[in-house]
Amino acid sequence: METTRFNKITSLWIITVLVLFVVAITLGIIMRLNQSELITVSPITFYTDMTVHGLTMIGIWFVAGMAAVNFIMERYVKTSHGVNVFAYVMTVVGVLLLWASTFFGRFHAGWTFLYPLPFKVMWKSWATPTFYFSLAVLGVGWLVWCLSLVSSLLKKYSLKEVFAWQHFSKNPKTETPPFVLIAMISLVGIITCLLAAVILLVLTFAEYYSKGSFVNDALLMKNLTYFFGHTIANEMLYLGLAILYELFSEISGRPKWKTTWYVALAWNFTLIFILTAFFHHLYMDFVQPEGFQIIGQIASYSASLPAAGVTVFSVIVAVYRTKINWSLANLLFFLGVTGWVIGGIGAVIDATISNNFILHNTLWVPAHFHTYNALGNVLFSLAFFQWFSAKYGGGSQRWSKVVLWLLLIGGIGFLTAFYIGGADSIPRRYSSYPEVFATAKTLAAFGALFATVYLSGVLVFFVNISKRCLKILLQRS
Ligand code: HEM
Repeated sequence: METTRFNKITSLWIITVLVLFVVAITLGIIMRLNQSELITVSPITFYTDMTVHGLTMIGIWFVAGMAAVNFIMERYVKTSHGVNVFAYVMTVVGVLLLWASTFFGRFHAGWTFLYPLPFKVMWKSWATPTFYFSLAVLGVGWLVWCLSLVSSLLKKYSLKEVFAWQHFSKNPKTETPPFVLIAMISLVGIITCLLAAVILLVLTFAEYYSKGSFVNDALLMKNLTYFFGHTIANEMLYLGLAILYELFSEISGRPKWKTTWYVALAWNFTLIFILTAFFHHLYMDFVQPEGFQIIGQIASYSASLPAAGVTVFSVIVAVYRTKINWSLANLLFFLGVTGWVIGGIGAVIDATISNNFILHNTLWVPAHFHTYNALGNVLFSLAFFQWFSAKYGGGSQRWSKVVLWLLLIGGIGFLTAFYIGGADSIPRRYSSYPEVFATAKTLAAFGALFATVYLSGVLVFFVNISKRCLKILLQRS
C-alpha cells in the first residue's frame, strides 16, 4: 500500500470537505434566519444560497464517502492514485464553476434544477450553461473515479465474488469482505445514476443550443433528474456504511465483521430497490403511469429495510453486553446509525402514498433527509476523518465530548424545528412565510439557533482535524 501518497490526497479531501461544509452550513443558517425574519435577504439571494447549499452538501458528502472508500479499498486491492487526484481537480473546477454561475451569474433554480426552470432565465444568460458545465465537470470526474475503483475490484474478485453470491450456498470457499460487497453495490448504483445524469445533460444541452427546434419531454426529464438526484443522495450514505462495516469493529476492539448469507442477500436487494425508489418523488405527477407509483412505494420500503435491518443487528450484536473501547470515532459511527434509522423512518412515512398527499413538499421533506445526512451520513464521514487523522497525524481526544454534545444538541434542535413545521403543513422552499403559517417564523428562528450550535461543534472538530491533516500533508514522502 502506497501509504503516504494516499494519506496526502485523503488529507486534502478532508480539509476541503470541512471548509466547504462550514460555508454550506453558514448558507443554511442564513436561510433559516431569513425565514424567521431576524435578517432580510432578497428572494434571489435566498434561492441562490439554497442552490449552492444543496449542491455543495450533496457533493461534499459524496466525495467524502468516495475518498474514505478509496483509502480503505487500498487494504484489499491496488487503486489508482492518479484518478483520485484527477477527481479532486475536477471537483475543485466544478465547484468554482458552480460558484461563478450562482454567486456571480445569480442562477437559482435549486440543486434539483428541475426542467424547464433553468431555461426560464431570470439571471445572467451565461449562468444556465455555466451551471450545467459545472455539473458536467463534476459528473465526469466522479464517473471516472467510480469506474476506476470498480475495475480495481474486478481485477481481484470475480463478478460472483464481488457481489458475494457464493455466500448463498453452504460453506463458501472464499469470503467477500463486507466492505468490498457494500462498496461494489454502492459504486454500481452511483455509476448507473451518473450515466442517467449524462443523458440528462445531453438532452438539456441539445434543447439549449437548438434555439427552439428541439423541446424535451418534461416528464422524462423529471424522471431522469430524480433518478440521478435521489439515487446519488442515497448511495453516498451507503459509501459511509461500507466504511462503518470495515472500521466499527476495528476501532471498538472487536472481531472483524464477516459476510453471511443474510448480509449478502440484504445488500443485493438494496442494489435493485434503490434504483427504483426514486418514483416516490413523482407521486403528485398524475400523468406518470400508476404502476410506477406502486413500484415507488414498494421499492422505498424494500430499499431501506434490509440494509438497515442487518446493519442495526450487526451494531447491536457488536455492542450488547460487551466491553467496547469507546472513542469519538466509534461513537460517531454509533450515533450515525441512529440518525440514519430515524431519518429512514421519516422517509418511509413520507414515501407512503396516502401520507404523501399531506406531507408532499412540506418541511417534513428537509426534516427527514437532513436527519439521515446531518445526524447520519455526515457522522459516518466525520468518524472516518477522526480515525484517519488520529492514526496518521496523532493528537489527543481532548475535545471529543464537546464536539459530540454540540453536534447532538444542535442537530436534534435544528431537526425538531423542521419536523414540527412539516407536521404543521408548512411548505418547504419558501424564502419568507405568509402570515397564515403562524408558527413558521418562530420555528425558523429556533432552527437557526440550534444550527449555530451544530456549526460550533463542526468548527471545533474542523480545527482539530485540519491541524492533523495539514501535518500529514506536510510530512515528507
Ligand atoms: C446544520 C446544518 C444545515 C443547515 C442549517 C441546513 C439548512 C437548510 C435549509 C434552511 C434548507 C432549505 C429548507 C427549505 O426548503 O425551506 C436546506 C435545504 C437543503 N439542505 Fe440543508 N442544512 C444543513 C445541513 C445539510 C446537510 C448535512 C445536507 C447533506 C446532504 C444538506 C442538504 C440539503 C439539501 C439537498 C437541501 C435542498 C435544497 C433544495 O431544495 O434545492 N443540508 N438546508
